[in-house]
Amino acid sequence: MAIIKFVNEKKEIQVPEGSNLRKEAMRAGVQLYSFPHNIANCRGFSLCGSCRVLITKGMENASSMGVAEKTRLKMALPYIGNEDSMRLACQTEVNGDMEVQTKPPLNWFGENFFS
Ligand code: FES
Repeated sequence: MAIIKFVNEKKEIQVPEGSNLRKEAMRAGVQLYSFPHNIANCRGFSLCGSCRVLITKGMENASSMGVAEKTRLKMALPYIGNEDSMRLACQTEVNGDMEVQTKPPLNWFGENFFS
């Protein structure tokens, strides 16, 4: 079993290893999406990019990133400056404990933003 701590929501859940982060968050009532994506999103197919989260601890316990996820994230401004911690929840398998920040803010002043 693995523990996911959602820092913004101050919620901790226990999930089986290998669980999908998006599905477990939704099952626990954790809102991953901002408006209007809470109504219209790709439902976990790595197309919309709106399930972005930051894994602030335990990134080593997340599955490795696939081509579709890498491609989608590289098209997203919020990815700049968060390359080491941002993942798409729908593409992330939880293989151990982690801390997750939902709805990460846009990093306008990240050191790499204008480079
Ligand atoms: S739900 Fe659309 S990219 Fe994850």
